[in-house]
Amino acid sequence: MERGAWSLEKSHLQKILTFPLKYHSTNRNFRRMKLSSALLAIVASLSYAKKDGQALSPPMGWMSWQRYVCETDCETYPDSCISENLYMKATDLLVSEGYLDAGYSQVSIDDCWSTQERDDNGDQQANPDRFPSGLKALGDYMHNAGVKFGFYSDIGTHTCGGYLGMKGNFQRDIDKFVSWGIDYLKLDGCYEDIAEMHDDYTEVSKILDASGRDIVFSCSWPAYVNNHGEDNDGEILQTLSEICHTWRNFDDVADSWNSVSSIIDYWARNTTDIPFVQVSGPGSWNDADMLMVGNNGLSLSEERTQFALYAIFASPLFLSTDLTKVSPESKAILQNREIISVNQDQSQQGIVLSDISNDPDWWVNVRTFGRALSDGTYAVVLQNYGNMGPYVNIKFDVSLLSQIGASVTTESQYTMRNLYTGKDVEGTFTGDEFVVPVESSSVEMFIVTLA
Ligand code: GLA
Repeated sequence: MERGAWSLEKSHLQKILTFPLKYHSTNRNFRRMKLSSALLAIVASLSYAKKDGQALSPPMGWMSWQRYVCETDCETYPDSCISENLYMKATDLLVSEGYLDAGYSQVSIDDCWSTQERDDNGDQQANPDRFPSGLKALGDYMHNAGVKFGFYSDIGTHTCGGYLGMKGNFQRDIDKFVSWGIDYLKLDGCYEDIAEMHDDYTEVSKILDASGRDIVFSCSWPAYVNNHGEDNDGEILQTLSEICHTWRNFDDVADSWNSVSSIIDYWARNTTDIPFVQVSGPGSWNDADMLMVGNNGLSLSEERTQFALYAIFASPLFLSTDLTKVSPESKAILQNREIISVNQDQSQQGIVLSDISNDPDWWVNVRTFGRALSDGTYAVVLQNYGNMGPYVNIKFDVSLLSQIGASVTTESQYTMRNLYTGKDVEGTFTGDEFVVPVESSSVEMFIVTLA
């Protein structure tokens, strides 16, 4: 199936299905709340989130979808078709190439693993030609390697790729998936009436809770609702963070800067207005979709940008790449321990603190992002999102950190550690004294420690 078919399917669904309007006033009230981010972090961790101790940091791993999509022709494409070989090889490489040690702890099957029909018992089964050993054996293979088994299904009648969905068989299917040993379930939302998503995702969450197995639950519900789920946030936000550990609400990532920058731009806009930021925290993460680092569509600078900003956004980090083909430079980005530990910090996701476009010069387009870390330091990314000129000298203004709870003034002193060079910057700075050149379409990333 062509890539376009997925987009068409989603937008088609959005047009034909109506979504409930009853929560609009709740939504407006919600937006009016102007709590400090520190307070919001507490609210997020106390009154929201699936409180079962799972996904206290954003999940990390490898997921087949973006790189391997739905190729089922194993004769023509033996190395890249959706088959047990693909996932066993990914498991081996995750270990041998050092990704597991760096924190990428799961391998996730995505769409197109099943047969088109249930078996005689009414159960789902893996395609026997492509998964001859069966999914229990595949799960065992991963577990023996110390890797978790990530899994995919759909809350509707069919998956987005047209394979079997769970609708009408929630208990039966979860029982089956548990018997295969899954540790993570990405539950997509194609071929489902939006009006039924609340009840259906809640029911699956309860079945997972009662399953006796720890399974991280990734929900796609808001990705199917108008305006990325924001128009309905009173209901969606509260419910999601109670029943899911992580969720997608934005478009599918593709291997291009156009796609990756659209995701960054979504999370960079008018921060306090993005309701989804406000419920992020341990057990409750916004998934910005897979990393494209290591593929073909991004320059090294763009790869650095995606990785640094996914750390600020506290997004799950899922590689979707051929692990035999990652260049040493891209691998160094993906295994940068200090940036990974920012991503894994058990704190609310960060926000854009300032966005300066064309002011005072038409080629200047720069942003400052910040995330308050639980050790009292701040992760900061300075982004030059312009695409003209060799570089822009970006001035960091420490007083911007007040937006994420820091007690700072324009006179505050601080030190900087550069996470891409892995070195402390010499000296102590005051106010907006720290200036760094940032290449076009690139970032620099720092830890700011207040003096
Ligand atoms: C949707 C999801 C993708 C992928 C495909 C599979 O588009 O957003 O991440 O799982 O379905 O068909």
